[in-house]
Amino acid sequence: MQLKIPIMENEMIDVRRRNVLLSPKFGGSCDIDSKPYLKELGIEIIERRQPIQFTSNFGEHVHRWAPYIQGFSSSFVQSILDQYKNDYESPIILDPFAGCGTVLTQSKLNGYVSIGTELNPLIKFIADTKVNSWDVDPKLLMQTFLIIPKNLRSSAPAFLKSENHFNKRVLNNLEFLKGGIDSIPAKTESQIKIKNLLLLAFSSILIDCSNLKRTPCLGYWKDKKVANDAPWELMNQKVNDICNDLIVLQSKYRKNIRVKSNVVLANAMEFKHDHFFDLVITSPPYMNGLDYVMNYKIEMGWLGFTKESKDAKKVKDSLVVCDNVSKGLIREFSQANSKYTSKWIENIKADISTNIERRGNYRRSDMPYIVHKYFDDMQKVMKMVTKSLRHNGRFILVVGDSLIADVYVPTDLILARIGTELGLSIEKIERARNRHSGQIRNYRLRETIITLKKTSNRMRNNGR
Ligand SMILES: C[S@@+](CC[C@H](N)C(=O)[O-])C[C@H]1O[C@@H](n2cnc3c(N)ncnc32)[C@H](O)[C@@H]1O
Repeated sequence: MQLKIPIMENEMIDVRRRNVLLSPKFGGSCDIDSKPYLKELGIEIIERRQPIQFTSNFGEHVHRWAPYIQGFSSSFVQSILDQYKNDYESPIILDPFAGCGTVLTQSKLNGYVSIGTELNPLIKFIADTKVNSWDVDPKLLMQTFLIIPKNLRSSAPAFLKSENHFNKRVLNNLEFLKGGIDSIPAKTESQIKIKNLLLLAFSSILIDCSNLKRTPCLGYWKDKKVANDAPWELMNQKVNDICNDLIVLQSKYRKNIRVKSNVVLANAMEFKHDHFFDLVITSPPYMNGLDYVMNYKIEMGWLGFTKESKDAKKVKDSLVVCDNVSKGLIREFSQANSKYTSKWIENIKADISTNIERRGNYRRSDMPYIVHKYFDDMQKVMKMVTKSLRHNGRFILVVGDSLIADVYVPTDLILARIGTELGLSIEKIERARNRHSGQIRNYRLRETIITLKKTSNRMRNNGR
């Protein structure tokens, strides 16, 4: 049943609020709006509620080295590995959207070879360092940190507004801390690994030292109090955590240290793997979700992955599309000849266009094409993944749906359908949790786990 809120004639109300109150989706839910799609696919969604978000990783070995809220929980990845442990002997795992490496870390803890692609160089660096530094001597790491010179300064990145981001004295301490880390020699493999761990630790304390917060988008926190010596204090704590985890890894997980975990800086839409995989476990970007570049601009700048603002924009425009990409990119896409599409996508695009026109105002008028490009990008990734999936291999995606300009977009069902077009079968779709629409808070969305299986080696014709 849909709730209707009366709006008095001549009532002064801002356009955004009016659109919310007058929305036909006010009080609605994905369950109602998914029905026709589910019917066409001939499936039902199974309830399987579980803690799926990264926040539950904050206290866990290795996962806690970098706070990355867009990731999923290690317990979720473990539950998938456990679920299929009898189906594959020593499975080889792929995560095409590796993020900060939750899948790769958890695979390595289980002794499984894993590969990931990640296109944001900072995030790739974090994932790589997390899985490929397990043999570092914790005593040497701590010692290196304790004796770093304290009188060398590396200036804050000139293109960032560092004076606004940090209090003056905190900034001063950060510059000396960074100067000390930068002065560490990195000639031998061991030195490189130690330096990388210290850089990872440095990047992971930056937001805590700043006047900002990530909840999940980066923004100023008005009353945040940061002690002047926070950079040294937090760094000490972080290095301590890493050393303690290395001790655990080198005792409890000793035999897994040499297990291969490879993170490639590559675009999952085009990267050709030279391996076949048994399990693909991944969480793609959500359509109107986060900007994986602007949210990490502080860390990317300080670690030297971006030298000026336009570097970040370049990375952003090459990722699977988010609703913060450049207008030029979307214009170019709208004019391109060859695009993946389907009846569902075309209907959704048409409905979004009509609603934007009716409203006379929307954050982005090119939203129909952003939605279209999202599925075009995802189809490319799914096609590459399907090619490198073994017979009987499984492709598991965690994804959320969206409500855009009063149009419901069943992202999970559209991706499942793309999977079938590529020759995969839908094994199950499970609801892991309920979410709320960012636009209409009382419209219920979901986050689902899609399990696709390769039962034949042939791609269908419309797999392009
Ligand atoms: C939801 S996050 C993945 C989080 C990961 N499951 C974890 O727990 O750390 C999606 C990631 O995909 C990356 N990404 C987006 N488009 C990509 C592309 N075309 N190729 C490779 N990586 C991409 C983003 O930079 C982001 O880190």
